[in-house]
Amino acid sequence: MLSAKTQLLSLLVFLLTQPCFSIDFITPNQPLKDGDFLISQAKTFQLGFFSPGNSTKRYVGVWYYNFPQKYVVWVANRDNPLSNTSGVLTIAESGQLVVAYSEAPEAPIWSTNISLSRDNYNNSARILDNGNLVVFRDLYSDKNVLWEGFDHPTNTYLPEMKVGLRKKTGEAWFISSWKSPDDPGTGQYSYRIVLNGTVPQLYIYDGSKPYMGMGPWNGITFSGLPAYGVDVADQLSQLFYIDDENEVSNYYTITNSSYVTRSVMDYTGVAQRLDWNPQSETWKASWTGPDGQCEKYGHCGAFSTCNSFRIANQGCDCLPGYTDKFEGGTTANSFVGCVLKPGASLCRSGEGFRKVSGIKVPDAFNAELQSDLDIKACHNLCLKNCSCTAYGASRLNSDKGCLTWYGELIDIREFSDGGQDIYVRVDHDELAKDSKKKILKVLLPVLFIIVLILVITCWVLRRKKRERSKRNLTMSNGSERDDIAFMERFSDVRSSNESGTTSAEVHCFSLSTIIAATDNFSFANKLGEGGFGTVYKGHMRGGQDIAVKRLSITSKQGLEEFRNEIILIAKLQHRNLVRLLGYCIQQENILIYEYLPNRGLDRFIFGGKSLLDWRTRFNITMGIARGMIYLHHDSRLRIIHRDLKASNVLLDASMNPKISDFGMARIFGNDQNEDTTNRVVGTYGYMSPEYAMEGHFSIKSDVFSFGVLLLEIISGRRNSSTFDDEKTVNLVGHVWDRWLEGKPLEIVDPSLEESYDVNEVLRCIHTGLLCVQESAAVRPTMSEVASMLCNEKTPPAAPEQPAFILKGKGYLGPVKFSYNTESGGSSGAQMTVSIVNGR
Ligand SMILES: *[C@@H]1O[C@H](CO)[C@@H](O)[C@H](O)[C@H]1NC(C)=O
Ligand SMILES: *[C@@H]1O[C@H](CO)[C@@H](O)[C@H](O)[C@H]1NC(C)=O
Ligand SMILES: *[C@@H]1O[C@H](CO)[C@@H](O)[C@H](O)[C@H]1NC(C)=O
Ligand SMILES: *[C@@H]1O[C@H](CO)[C@@H](O)[C@H](O)[C@H]1NC(C)=O
Ligand SMILES: *[C@@H]1O[C@H](CO)[C@@H](O)[C@H](O)[C@H]1NC(C)=O
Ligand SMILES: *[C@@H]1O[C@H](CO)[C@@H](O)[C@H](O)[C@H]1NC(C)=O
Ligand SMILES: *[C@@H]1O[C@H](CO)[C@@H](O)[C@H](O)[C@H]1NC(C)=O
Repeated sequence: MLSAKTQLLSLLVFLLTQPCFSIDFITPNQPLKDGDFLISQAKTFQLGFFSPGNSTKRYVGVWYYNFPQKYVVWVANRDNPLSNTSGVLTIAESGQLVVAYSEAPEAPIWSTNISLSRDNYNNSARILDNGNLVVFRDLYSDKNVLWEGFDHPTNTYLPEMKVGLRKKTGEAWFISSWKSPDDPGTGQYSYRIVLNGTVPQLYIYDGSKPYMGMGPWNGITFSGLPAYGVDVADQLSQLFYIDDENEVSNYYTITNSSYVTRSVMDYTGVAQRLDWNPQSETWKASWTGPDGQCEKYGHCGAFSTCNSFRIANQGCDCLPGYTDKFEGGTTANSFVGCVLKPGASLCRSGEGFRKVSGIKVPDAFNAELQSDLDIKACHNLCLKNCSCTAYGASRLNSDKGCLTWYGELIDIREFSDGGQDIYVRVDHDELAKDSKKKILKVLLPVLFIIVLILVITCWVLRRKKRERSKRNLTMSNGSERDDIAFMERFSDVRSSNESGTTSAEVHCFSLSTIIAATDNFSFANKLGEGGFGTVYKGHMRGGQDIAVKRLSITSKQGLEEFRNEIILIAKLQHRNLVRLLGYCIQQENILIYEYLPNRGLDRFIFGGKSLLDWRTRFNITMGIARGMIYLHHDSRLRIIHRDLKASNVLLDASMNPKISDFGMARIFGNDQNEDTTNRVVGTYGYMSPEYAMEGHFSIKSDVFSFGVLLLEIISGRRNSSTFDDEKTVNLVGHVWDRWLEGKPLEIVDPSLEESYDVNEVLRCIHTGLLCVQESAAVRPTMSEVASMLCNEKTPPAAPEQPAFILKGKGYLGPVKFSYNTESGGSSGAQMTVSIVNGR
C-alpha cells in the first residue's frame, strides 16, 4: 500500500507536470514554449507541441480540444522536427512566425514566408475556432490577415480549408499524407486538384501519378464522388467550387457547428471523410477512396468501364463498340483494356453514339469543355470531328455545358446509384444493334404482359383443380396419378430453386402408391431402422425417388390431429432438415420424405477408412448446428429432436447435412419445452444422463447428443467403441482423458492425417466437451455452440467432467486448456494445460 505521503507527492508531481498554461495570442513578447498551449476562443481546437506515435521528435501541431485522443489536424514544421523540448513558437524580429530552439532563436527551423515591408512589427498569431492558425498584422486584432495555416494544409482537410491551384503560376496547395503514424513529414499520397489539359479535376496522387480519379466538377459534386456529394453534403455540409481567371479551388463548410468532421489522406493512400460520433467517441467513415480495385485509377485500361459488382474480368467490361484487347488469348486475371472492334469505322461512315449511364466520366485530361453548349449542340460538335470519341453533359441538372473527349477514354466507373451519362462514338453496325434493341424494348413489355396473363390463367385453373382434389383427399385414398403429379411438381420446384424453400405443401399419398413404390416394403428396399420405425426407399412410377418411413409406434392422437400435426411439421423448412413430403394414414401410419442418395452420415465417418476431409466434416457439423438452431429457436414450433445421431443425419449429393426424424417427439404428443416422459426413445450413447435416467428432456439433451456426434465426427469412431485405455467406457471418456493429459489431438481421426486446421479442431473438441457436460444447466445452447464453432465467441475456458465416464480417477476440478483462439493458425499451435485442484 502506498503511504499517504507518497500519494501526496505523486499528486504534486502530476499537477506540476500537467500543462497548465495557455495563452490566446502569440506576440513578439509572448512566445509559445513546449508544454504551453494556444486554445481557440470557442474551445474547439488547441495548438501546441506534440510527438506523434512512438516518435520522440517534437512538432508544432493543431488538434481537437478536449477529445479523448490527440487527433492532429495540422502540423507546422512537419518536415523539420525539433529534437528536444526546448522549442518555441514565436514572432521573430523579422516579423515572421517561426519555430526555433530557445537556445538559437536567430536560426529558426521553420518559418512563415510573409512578404513584409515595414520595420517595426506588431504581428500576432492566434488559433481560430475552425482550426486555422493565422498571423495578423496588429496586436490583438483580427483584421489584416498576413498568413494562414489553411493555405498550407497537411494530411487533414477541414471544413473551410481550401485545396486548389493558381492558374497563372500553376502553384497548387493540397492535402498530403504523413510519411507514417510516427512521422508527419510530407508523404507520397496527395489529394489535389490538377489541371492537365483544360478541365480541372480532383485526384488522389501517388507521388506524381494519379492513384484515384474523382473527375471534373459537375455543378454539384465531383463526378467520381456521387454519394459524398448527395448524402453528406445535403444534410450537414456543403461543397463549394471556384473556377475563375485566378484560381480553381474547392472547399466545404458545415451547416451545424455541433457536427465534427474531417477528411484525412492516410499514409497508406486511403482518403476518408470521418464524422465524429460523440456517443461512442469514435470516428465513422462516411466516404472512403479508393474503395476497391475499381476505384484505382485506370484499373481497366482504355475504353472500358469498371463495376465493383461485376465478378468476371476484375470488374471490367468494354464500352459499346469496343472489344477486349487480348480476347481469348490471355488468362482471366489480366484485363488490360479494350480496342475498337475489328473492321469498325468511326469516320463518316454512318457512325453515331451509344449512351453509357450512371458512371464517373472518363478522365478529362484529353477533354474540352464548352460551358455554353447544350447536349444537342454537343452531339453535333462531337459528330463533326472524327477524333472525338465521346461527349456528355458537363453539369448535372443543367442543360448547358458540354464535354467532348478526343482519344482514349480511361478511368470510367459504373455506380449502382447516381452518376453521369456519356455518349460513346460507335460505328454503323453497333448503332443498328442499338435500334434493334429499341424495338425490342417496345415489344418486350407487350410480350411480357401476354405471357403474364397466360400464366395467371393457368395458375388460377390449376389452383381450382388442386383445391377440388384436396377436398376429395382428406382421409380417403388419393389416386396414384395425383401422387405422381405431386412428386413431379416437387422436383420441378426443387430443381428451379436450389435453396429448397418451396411451398409447405404436404400431400396425402395413397397406400397403393407406396406399396407399388417400395415393392410392398420389400427387404431389398429397406434403408434402415430407427427409433420410430423402418425406412424404405421408394421409386415412383413417374421416376422420382422417395424415402418412406413406416412408423412402428402408433400415435395416441386421433387421425385428424395426427394429420394436422404432420402438416405443421411439414411447414418446418430449412436447408439442413430433410423435407417431409407427405403422409399416408390408411391402415398404418407412414411418412414420406425426400430421398437423399448419399444416405446417413454414419456410413461416411465410421469404419476405418474415412471419405471425408476435415473441411467437409466441419461444414457438416455447422450444417447440423444450423438445423438444430432452427428446430430449437427459430421455427414456429420449438422442437426437441430426442434422437440426434450420425445415422439420423443424411447427406445430399453435395454433402450438405440434413437432419431427419425431427418432429417425431412432437408427433407422438410431447411438445413442451421441457418434460419428463416414461417412454424413453433415443439411442444409448447419445442420450444425456438426465434423459436416460430420469426421462427428463429439454433442448439441452439435444445439445448433449450433438456434442457426442461432434466428437464422433472428429474422431471417426462411435461413442460406443471400445478403447485400449481400460479406464474409460466410451469415446467421450477417451476424449476427456486426452484433454486432461493435454493431448487432445490424439483423438483426431488418423485418416485425416495432418490436413486440418489445428486451432479449428481444438475449438471443436473443446465445444464438444462443453456439450457433453454432466449438468444440463452448464451446457451451451445450440446457437452458442454455433458461434463457438465458427470462432465468433470464445468458449468458456474449462469444460466440466462429462457424463458417463468411469470415475476411477477422481475429479480434478476445473481444467484449463488453452490454445490459440484466433483462426487461421497453423499446426504449430501452443498448448498448455493447467489443472486447478479443487480444495
Ligand atoms: C509504437 O511501438 C509499438 C511497439 O513497437 C507498436 O506496437 C505500436 O504500433 C507503435 N505505435 C505507432 C503509432 O507506431
Ligand atoms: C536542444 O537541441 C538543440 C539542437 O540540437 C540544442 O542546440 C539545444 O542545446 C538542445 N537543448 C537541450 C535543453 O537539450
Ligand atoms: C518566400 O516567398 C518569396 C516570394 O513570395 C519566394 O520567392 C521565396 O522562394 C519564398 N521562400 C521560401 C523559403 O518559400
Ligand atoms: C505597435 O503597437 C504599439 C502599441 O499598440 C503602437 O504604439 C505602435 O505604433 C505599433 N507599431 C506599428 C508599426 O504598428
Ligand atoms: C496528363 O494526363 C495524361 C494521362 O494520364 C498523362 O499521360 C500526362 O502525363 C499528364 N500530364 C501532366 C502534365 O500531368
Ligand atoms: C445541430 O445538431 C444538433 C445535434 O445533432 C441538434 O441538436 C441541433 O438542433 C442542430 N442545430 C441546427 C441549427 O440544426
Ligand atoms: C478535332 O478536335 C481536335 C481537338 O480539339 C482538334 O485538334 C482538331 O483540329 C479537330 N479536327 C477538326 C477536323 O476539326
